[in-house]
Amino acid sequence: MDIKQQIIELRTQALEELSRADTLAELEEWRVRYLGKKSRLTEILRGLATLSIEERKEAGAVSNSFKQEIEEAYRQKEKLRRIDTLGSSSSKETIDISLPGRPFARGHLHPVAQALNEIVAIFTAMGFQVLEGPEVEWDYYNFDMLNMPKEHPARAATDTFWLDAPPNEKGWQMLLRTHTSPMQVRTMEKSKPPIRIVVPGIVHRYEATDATHLSMFSQIEGLAVDEGICMADLKGTLHEFARRFFGPDRRVRFRCDFFPYVEPGAEMAVECAVCHGGGCRLCGGAGWIEVLGSGMVHPRVLEGVGIDPKKYSGFAFGMGIERIPLLKYGIEDIRLFYGNDLRFLRQFR
Ligand code: PHE
Repeated sequence: MDIKQQIIELRTQALEELSRADTLAELEEWRVRYLGKKSRLTEILRGLATLSIEERKEAGAVSNSFKQEIEEAYRQKEKLRRIDTLGSSSSKETIDISLPGRPFARGHLHPVAQALNEIVAIFTAMGFQVLEGPEVEWDYYNFDMLNMPKEHPARAATDTFWLDAPPNEKGWQMLLRTHTSPMQVRTMEKSKPPIRIVVPGIVHRYEATDATHLSMFSQIEGLAVDEGICMADLKGTLHEFARRFFGPDRRVRFRCDFFPYVEPGAEMAVECAVCHGGGCRLCGGAGWIEVLGSGMVHPRVLEGVGIDPKKYSGFAFGMGIERIPLLKYGIEDIRLFYGNDLRFLRQFR
Protein backbone atom coordinates (compact mmCIF):
# COMPACT_ATOMS: atom_id res chain seq x y z
CA MET A 1 0.00 0.00 0.00
CA ASP A 2 1.48 3.36 -0.89
CA ILE A 3 1.97 6.09 1.66
CA LYS A 4 -0.83 8.28 0.35
CA GLN A 5 -3.29 5.45 0.70
CA GLN A 6 -2.07 4.69 4.23
CA ILE A 7 -2.59 8.28 5.26
CA ILE A 8 -6.10 8.37 3.85
CA GLU A 9 -6.99 5.29 5.84
CA LEU A 10 -5.37 6.73 8.94
CA ARG A 11 -7.52 9.84 8.53
CA THR A 12 -10.75 7.87 8.49
CA GLN A 13 -9.69 5.91 11.53
CA ALA A 14 -8.52 9.01 13.44
CA LEU A 15 -11.71 10.94 12.89
CA GLU A 16 -13.86 8.02 13.83
CA GLU A 17 -11.98 7.38 17.07
CA LEU A 18 -12.06 11.06 17.88
CA SER A 19 -15.83 11.09 17.65
CA ARG A 20 -15.93 8.32 20.24
CA ALA A 21 -13.44 9.91 22.70
CA ASP A 22 -15.57 11.52 25.41
CA THR A 23 -13.65 11.74 28.62
CA LEU A 24 -10.60 13.85 29.20
CA ALA A 25 -8.48 10.68 29.46
CA GLU A 26 -9.76 9.25 26.19
CA LEU A 27 -9.17 12.51 24.42
CA GLU A 28 -5.63 12.69 25.72
CA GLU A 29 -4.94 9.12 24.64
CA TRP A 30 -6.20 9.99 21.19
CA ARG A 31 -4.00 13.05 21.04
CA VAL A 32 -0.87 11.04 21.84
CA ARG A 33 -1.80 8.36 19.32
CA TYR A 34 -2.44 10.69 16.40
CA LEU A 35 -0.63 13.94 17.12
CA GLY A 36 2.18 12.85 19.41
CA LYS A 37 5.84 12.28 18.50
CA LYS A 38 5.39 8.52 18.23
CA SER A 39 2.15 8.70 16.27
CA ARG A 40 1.08 6.40 13.47
CA LEU A 41 1.77 9.22 11.05
CA THR A 42 5.41 9.45 12.12
CA GLU A 43 5.67 5.72 11.54
CA ILE A 44 4.20 5.97 8.06
CA LEU A 45 6.42 8.89 7.14
CA ARG A 46 9.47 6.82 7.97
CA GLY A 47 8.80 5.03 4.70
CA LEU A 48 9.37 8.29 2.79
CA ALA A 49 13.11 7.65 2.62
CA THR A 50 12.58 4.83 0.15
CA LEU A 51 10.59 7.00 -2.28
CA SER A 52 11.54 9.11 -5.29
CA ILE A 53 11.55 12.92 -4.96
CA GLU A 54 8.23 13.23 -6.83
CA GLU A 55 6.54 10.68 -4.63
CA ARG A 56 7.99 12.25 -1.51
CA LYS A 57 6.57 15.65 -2.42
CA GLU A 58 3.13 14.24 -2.97
CA ALA A 59 3.14 12.20 0.23
CA GLY A 60 4.45 15.22 2.15
CA ALA A 61 1.58 17.37 0.94
CA VAL A 62 -1.00 14.72 1.85
CA SER A 63 0.52 14.26 5.27
CA ASN A 64 0.54 18.00 5.96
CA SER A 65 -3.09 18.50 5.10
CA PHE A 66 -3.94 15.39 7.13
CA LYS A 67 -2.16 16.83 10.14
CA GLN A 68 -3.89 20.15 9.82
CA GLU A 69 -7.27 18.53 9.49
CA ILE A 70 -7.04 16.28 12.51
CA GLU A 71 -5.46 19.01 14.65
CA GLU A 72 -8.42 21.23 13.85
CA ALA A 73 -10.85 18.40 14.57
CA TYR A 74 -9.15 17.83 17.90
CA ARG A 75 -9.40 21.50 18.85
CA GLN A 76 -13.11 21.58 18.01
CA LYS A 77 -13.76 18.45 20.01
CA GLU A 78 -11.90 19.80 23.00
CA LYS A 79 -13.84 23.05 22.91
CA LEU A 80 -17.16 21.21 22.77
CA ARG A 81 -16.12 18.94 25.58
CA ARG A 82 -15.28 21.94 27.77
CA ILE A 83 -18.67 23.52 27.14
CA ASP A 84 -20.27 20.18 27.90
CA THR A 85 -18.49 19.82 31.21
CA LEU A 86 -19.59 23.28 32.28
CA GLY A 87 -23.19 22.60 31.39
CA SER A 88 -23.82 19.11 32.64
CA SER A 89 -23.71 17.50 36.02
CA SER A 90 -23.20 14.10 34.41
CA SER A 91 -19.58 14.98 33.70
CA LYS A 92 -17.31 12.10 34.60
CA GLU A 93 -14.90 14.47 36.35
CA THR A 94 -15.17 14.91 40.09
CA ILE A 95 -15.25 17.99 42.26
CA ASP A 96 -12.98 18.02 45.26
CA ILE A 97 -15.46 18.84 47.98
CA SER A 98 -12.72 19.00 50.60
CA LEU A 99 -11.33 22.23 49.08
CA PRO A 100 -11.97 25.32 51.22
CA GLY A 101 -14.79 27.56 49.96
CA ARG A 102 -14.12 30.87 48.27
CA PRO A 103 -14.51 33.73 50.76
CA PHE A 104 -17.75 35.60 50.19
CA ALA A 105 -17.34 39.38 50.48
CA ARG A 106 -20.26 40.54 52.56
CA GLY A 107 -21.22 44.20 52.70
CA HIS A 108 -22.61 46.08 55.68
CA LEU A 109 -24.60 49.20 56.37
CA HIS A 110 -22.89 52.55 56.23
CA PRO A 111 -22.12 53.90 59.74
CA VAL A 112 -24.53 56.78 59.21
CA ALA A 113 -27.32 54.37 58.22
CA GLN A 114 -26.52 52.24 61.27
CA ALA A 115 -26.75 55.27 63.55
CA LEU A 116 -29.98 56.38 61.91
CA ASN A 117 -31.54 52.94 62.42
CA GLU A 118 -30.52 52.99 66.06
CA ILE A 119 -31.93 56.50 66.59
CA VAL A 120 -35.20 55.61 64.89
CA ALA A 121 -35.48 52.46 67.03
CA ILE A 122 -35.11 54.50 70.22
CA PHE A 123 -37.87 56.91 69.22
CA THR A 124 -40.25 54.24 67.97
CA ALA A 125 -39.81 52.47 71.32
CA MET A 126 -41.01 55.73 72.91
CA GLY A 127 -44.15 55.70 70.76
CA PHE A 128 -43.12 57.88 67.81
CA GLN A 129 -44.25 56.99 64.30
CA VAL A 130 -41.77 57.18 61.37
CA LEU A 131 -42.57 59.28 58.29
CA GLU A 132 -40.62 60.52 55.31
CA GLY A 133 -41.02 63.64 53.20
CA PRO A 134 -39.85 65.13 49.91
CA GLU A 135 -36.26 66.34 49.51
CA VAL A 136 -37.31 68.79 46.79
CA GLU A 137 -39.67 71.05 48.69
CA TRP A 138 -41.68 74.26 48.35
CA ASP A 139 -40.49 77.39 50.14
CA TYR A 140 -44.05 77.50 51.48
CA TYR A 141 -43.36 74.45 53.70
CA ASN A 142 -39.64 75.00 54.21
CA PHE A 143 -40.08 78.65 55.30
CA ASP A 144 -43.47 80.44 55.10
CA MET A 145 -45.50 78.07 57.22
CA LEU A 146 -42.66 77.88 59.73
CA ASN A 147 -43.07 81.54 60.56
CA MET A 148 -40.30 82.63 58.17
CA PRO A 149 -41.85 85.23 55.90
CA LYS A 150 -40.32 86.29 52.60
CA GLU A 151 -37.80 88.76 54.00
CA HIS A 152 -36.43 86.44 56.73
CA PRO A 153 -32.60 86.18 56.69
CA ALA A 154 -32.72 82.35 56.71
CA ARG A 155 -34.18 82.60 53.22
CA ALA A 156 -31.15 84.42 51.79
CA ALA A 157 -29.77 82.68 48.73
CA THR A 158 -26.48 81.91 50.49
CA ASP A 159 -28.17 79.30 52.69
CA THR A 160 -30.46 77.61 50.22
CA PHE A 161 -30.18 75.71 46.97
CA TRP A 162 -33.06 77.09 44.93
CA LEU A 163 -34.33 75.14 41.95
CA ASP A 164 -34.25 76.73 38.55
CA ALA A 165 -37.99 76.17 38.06
CA PRO A 166 -40.85 78.67 37.68
CA PRO A 167 -43.05 79.17 40.77
CA ASN A 168 -46.39 77.35 40.88
CA GLU A 169 -49.75 79.11 40.53
CA LYS A 170 -49.69 80.03 44.23
CA GLY A 171 -46.26 81.63 43.86
CA TRP A 172 -44.43 78.84 45.72
CA GLN A 173 -40.78 78.31 44.78
CA MET A 174 -38.97 75.00 44.64
CA LEU A 175 -35.84 74.36 46.69
CA LEU A 176 -33.82 71.59 48.26
CA ARG A 177 -35.13 71.45 51.81
CA THR A 178 -32.70 73.03 54.25
CA HIS A 179 -34.11 71.03 57.15
CA THR A 180 -36.69 68.31 57.84
CA SER A 181 -39.00 70.80 59.62
CA PRO A 182 -41.33 71.27 56.60
CA MET A 183 -42.63 67.81 57.51
CA GLN A 184 -43.99 69.28 60.76
CA VAL A 185 -46.32 71.41 58.67
CA ARG A 186 -47.18 68.71 56.14
CA THR A 187 -48.04 66.30 58.95
CA MET A 188 -50.13 68.74 60.98
CA GLU A 189 -52.02 69.80 57.83
CA LYS A 190 -53.15 66.20 57.36
CA SER A 191 -53.54 64.77 60.86
CA LYS A 192 -54.87 66.24 64.06
CA PRO A 193 -53.44 65.69 67.57
CA PRO A 194 -52.34 63.53 69.23
CA ILE A 195 -49.26 63.50 66.95
CA ARG A 196 -45.94 61.82 67.67
CA ILE A 197 -43.66 61.48 64.65
CA VAL A 198 -40.02 61.30 63.68
CA VAL A 199 -38.91 62.10 60.13
CA PRO A 200 -35.46 61.03 58.96
CA GLY A 201 -34.13 62.44 55.69
CA ILE A 202 -31.48 64.23 53.69
CA VAL A 203 -31.19 68.03 53.73
CA HIS A 204 -29.03 70.49 51.79
CA ARG A 205 -27.34 73.75 52.69
CA TYR A 206 -25.38 76.07 50.52
CA GLU A 207 -22.34 76.39 52.76
CA ALA A 208 -18.69 75.49 53.05
CA THR A 209 -17.66 72.04 54.24
CA ASP A 210 -15.38 71.55 57.26
CA ALA A 211 -14.69 69.04 60.06
CA THR A 212 -18.22 69.43 61.50
CA HIS A 213 -20.25 70.72 58.52
CA LEU A 214 -21.41 69.19 55.24
CA SER A 215 -23.50 70.81 52.51
CA MET A 216 -25.59 67.66 52.23
CA PHE A 217 -26.37 65.78 55.42
CA SER A 218 -29.10 63.92 57.24
CA GLN A 219 -31.48 65.05 59.92
CA ILE A 220 -34.21 63.52 61.96
CA GLU A 221 -37.16 65.70 62.85
CA GLY A 222 -39.32 65.02 65.86
CA LEU A 223 -42.78 66.39 66.60
CA ALA A 224 -45.20 65.75 69.43
CA VAL A 225 -48.50 67.64 69.62
CA ASP A 226 -51.19 67.00 72.18
CA GLU A 227 -53.06 68.61 75.06
CA GLY A 228 -50.79 69.68 77.89
CA ILE A 229 -47.38 69.06 76.32
CA CYS A 230 -44.72 71.23 77.94
CA MET A 231 -41.00 71.94 77.98
CA ALA A 232 -40.41 69.18 80.55
CA ASP A 233 -41.68 66.65 78.01
CA LEU A 234 -39.20 67.96 75.47
CA LYS A 235 -36.26 67.80 77.87
CA GLY A 236 -37.29 64.44 79.27
CA THR A 237 -37.66 62.86 75.82
CA LEU A 238 -34.36 64.19 74.46
CA HIS A 239 -32.43 63.45 77.61
CA GLU A 240 -33.74 59.90 77.59
CA PHE A 241 -32.75 59.57 73.95
CA ALA A 242 -29.19 60.71 74.77
CA ARG A 243 -28.99 58.29 77.67
CA ARG A 244 -30.06 55.37 75.52
CA PHE A 245 -27.83 56.27 72.59
CA PHE A 246 -24.64 57.48 74.26
CA GLY A 247 -24.93 55.67 77.56
CA PRO A 248 -25.65 57.12 81.03
CA ASP A 249 -22.21 58.69 81.52
CA ARG A 250 -22.20 61.20 78.69
CA ARG A 251 -23.43 64.61 79.82
CA VAL A 252 -25.89 66.68 77.80
CA ARG A 253 -26.60 70.39 78.02
CA PHE A 254 -29.63 72.50 77.06
CA ARG A 255 -29.28 76.18 76.24
CA CYS A 256 -31.56 78.84 74.85
CA ASP A 257 -31.62 79.11 71.09
CA PHE A 258 -33.74 80.84 68.50
CA PHE A 259 -35.76 79.33 65.66
CA PRO A 260 -38.69 81.32 64.23
CA TYR A 261 -41.02 78.31 64.48
CA VAL A 262 -40.57 77.57 68.20
CA GLU A 263 -41.06 79.52 71.38
CA PRO A 264 -39.15 79.05 73.57
CA GLY A 265 -36.30 77.44 71.62
CA ALA A 266 -33.39 75.37 72.89
CA GLU A 267 -30.32 73.60 71.59
CA MET A 268 -29.01 70.39 73.01
CA ALA A 269 -25.28 69.72 73.08
CA VAL A 270 -23.43 66.55 74.04
CA GLU A 271 -20.06 66.36 75.75
CA CYS A 272 -17.32 65.97 73.13
CA ALA A 273 -16.23 62.33 72.80
CA VAL A 274 -12.66 63.21 71.88
CA CYS A 275 -11.73 65.66 74.65
CA HIS A 276 -14.56 65.10 77.18
CA GLY A 277 -15.12 68.79 77.69
CA GLY A 278 -11.49 69.90 77.52
CA GLY A 279 -11.69 71.39 74.01
CA CYS A 280 -10.24 70.01 70.77
CA ARG A 281 -10.39 70.38 67.00
CA LEU A 282 -13.61 68.40 66.73
CA CYS A 283 -15.58 70.59 69.12
CA GLY A 284 -13.77 73.76 68.09
CA GLY A 285 -12.36 74.10 71.60
CA ALA A 286 -15.80 74.26 73.19
CA GLY A 287 -15.86 70.80 74.81
CA TRP A 288 -19.48 70.36 73.67
CA ILE A 289 -21.05 69.62 70.31
CA GLU A 290 -24.50 70.83 69.40
CA VAL A 291 -26.56 67.95 68.09
CA LEU A 292 -30.04 69.38 67.79
CA GLY A 293 -32.30 72.38 67.76
CA SER A 294 -35.63 72.19 69.51
CA GLY A 295 -38.43 74.06 71.19
CA MET A 296 -42.13 74.39 71.81
CA VAL A 297 -44.05 74.66 68.54
CA HIS A 298 -44.81 78.34 67.91
CA PRO A 299 -48.53 79.22 68.27
CA ARG A 300 -48.43 80.82 64.82
CA VAL A 301 -47.33 77.52 63.27
CA LEU A 302 -50.21 75.71 64.98
CA GLU A 303 -52.68 78.38 63.86
CA GLY A 304 -51.38 78.11 60.29
CA VAL A 305 -52.37 74.44 60.09
CA GLY A 306 -55.68 74.95 61.87
CA ILE A 307 -54.73 73.55 65.27
CA ASP A 308 -56.00 75.65 68.19
CA PRO A 309 -52.96 76.80 70.20
CA LYS A 310 -55.19 77.44 73.24
CA LYS A 311 -56.11 73.79 73.39
CA TYR A 312 -52.99 72.09 72.04
CA SER A 313 -49.26 72.52 72.42
CA GLY A 314 -46.28 70.61 71.13
CA PHE A 315 -42.55 70.25 71.04
CA ALA A 316 -40.30 69.75 68.03
CA PHE A 317 -36.67 68.97 67.47
CA GLY A 318 -34.32 68.54 64.54
CA MET A 319 -31.17 66.50 65.00
CA GLY A 320 -28.16 66.23 62.70
CA ILE A 321 -27.54 62.53 62.12
CA GLU A 322 -23.88 62.50 61.07
CA ARG A 323 -22.81 64.26 64.23
CA ILE A 324 -24.28 61.51 66.38
CA PRO A 325 -21.90 58.65 65.38
CA LEU A 326 -19.15 61.26 65.22
CA LEU A 327 -19.72 61.90 68.91
CA LYS A 328 -20.31 58.30 69.82
CA TYR A 329 -17.06 57.03 68.32
CA GLY A 330 -14.94 60.15 68.67
CA ILE A 331 -14.40 60.65 64.92
CA GLU A 332 -12.50 63.85 64.24
CA ASP A 333 -13.78 64.78 60.82
CA ILE A 334 -17.35 64.45 59.53
CA ARG A 335 -16.08 64.35 55.92
CA LEU A 336 -14.69 60.85 56.56
CA PHE A 337 -18.24 59.50 56.35
CA TYR A 338 -18.52 60.42 52.68
CA GLY A 339 -14.91 59.98 51.55
CA ASN A 340 -15.61 56.34 50.57
CA ASP A 341 -12.36 55.20 52.14
CA LEU A 342 -12.96 51.51 52.84
CA ARG A 343 -10.29 51.47 55.56
CA PHE A 344 -12.53 53.86 57.48
CA LEU A 345 -15.90 52.32 56.59
CA ARG A 346 -14.87 48.72 57.37
CA GLN A 347 -14.33 49.63 60.99
CA PHE A 348 -18.11 49.81 61.37
CA ARG A 349 -18.83 46.22 60.35
N1 PHE B 1 -34.80 72.88 61.81
C1 PHE B 1 -33.78 73.21 62.77
C2 PHE B 1 -32.42 73.06 62.12
O1 PHE B 1 -32.33 72.58 61.02
C3 PHE B 1 -33.86 72.34 63.98
C4 PHE B 1 -35.15 72.49 64.73
C5 PHE B 1 -36.20 71.64 64.50
C6 PHE B 1 -35.29 73.48 65.68
C7 PHE B 1 -37.37 71.72 65.23
C8 PHE B 1 -36.45 73.61 66.39
C9 PHE B 1 -37.48 72.73 66.15
O2 PHE B 1 -31.41 73.39 62.69
